[in-house]
Amino acid sequence: MRSIEDLPTPAVLVDLDVLERNLARTAERARSAGVKLRPHAKTHKVVEIGRMQIALGAVGLSLAKVGEAEVFAAAGFQDIFLAYPTVGGDRARRLLALGDRLRLAVGADSVEGASTLSAVFHQARRTLEVLLKIDCGFHRVGVQPGAALEVARKVAELPGLRLRGVFTHAGQAYHAEMPSAVAEIGRSEGEILAAAAREMRDAGLAIEDVSVGSTPTAAHAMRVAGVTECRPGNYVYHDASQVALGSCSPKECAMTVAATVVSVPAADRAVVDAGSKTLSSDPLRPRAGGYGLLLGTASRLERLSEEHGVVKVEPGDRFRIGQRVSILPNHACVVSNLHDRVYGVRAGVVETEFAVAARGRVD
Ligand SMILES: Cc1ncc(COP(=O)(O)O)c(C=O)c1O
Repeated sequence: MRSIEDLPTPAVLVDLDVLERNLARTAERARSAGVKLRPHAKTHKVVEIGRMQIALGAVGLSLAKVGEAEVFAAAGFQDIFLAYPTVGGDRARRLLALGDRLRLAVGADSVEGASTLSAVFHQARRTLEVLLKIDCGFHRVGVQPGAALEVARKVAELPGLRLRGVFTHAGQAYHAEMPSAVAEIGRSEGEILAAAAREMRDAGLAIEDVSVGSTPTAAHAMRVAGVTECRPGNYVYHDASQVALGSCSPKECAMTVAATVVSVPAADRAVVDAGSKTLSSDPLRPRAGGYGLLLGTASRLERLSEEHGVVKVEPGDRFRIGQRVSILPNHACVVSNLHDRVYGVRAGVVETEFAVAARGRVD
């Protein structure tokens, strides 16, 4: 039996009790809202956690990249949606190679992008399902709602493709400073997408999936009439940004990073062995505020270099060299992507080790 204290640092820990509660709560929330849950596995990239989500009723997984789909398909997952504008004949050929036992869909936000997939699937006499991405205000990717019907019609006509639905992601919620603003963004996310789906159905398109989702907005967007599916990802672990946004309490954060104090060069400064290689440089959202909270203290990481996490020591806190600390990261998803494994822990004991099998799959 290995104790947390025996792990070399830095180490990414996942509290299994918290993870299980987070998984169950969101599964129940989707069930009671009457929508399908298709969690975005970008947050964990772990096959075993994906299986736990399916066991709790998820219809399948969302992922972003073809390389991630390859990992989860090889592990036996049968229903995958790439919630990302998937473009290129080479990618289409890799998707084709995943075989037809897998129910597969990809995102598209242009006729040009979808055409690159259409040609390959048509030639192979196979059909790829597509969801049109609609911009509900994040202004990253996605068709503007006013242009959605026209693009949807054209995508639906492309040979080798079947337009299965529409999807959106209200990432702008991460910049909302009040929980009431997050709730409003969630409602509008659902309403914009449901309205687009209605318009398409009225025009004769067979829209099945109306898929919303982010962790801050999920509870609000999934209750909007007409929404059929929700794709939160971060809820499995949560992080300091979700706490700051009001999505969860610190007790609902499953992922922490164990680190060791390696230097205390001044009374107001300590340095731990976790820098940007461990935590990433992602800022705290919605408002910047350092690079991770040191749990049980008032101090936080104020600066990172690759291997150094510089703590601004607050009055009343004291750190000594060799001391182990527990960091709540700003953004759990990017931490996963930086590590080969995470340790599943319960009551201070390492119960299991998960390979982050789909980390680093950028293509
Ligand atoms: C398209 C898409 N869907 C769903 C999600 C999941 O959102 P969250 O991480 O807030 O749960 C993301 C996250 O970036 C996303 O980009």
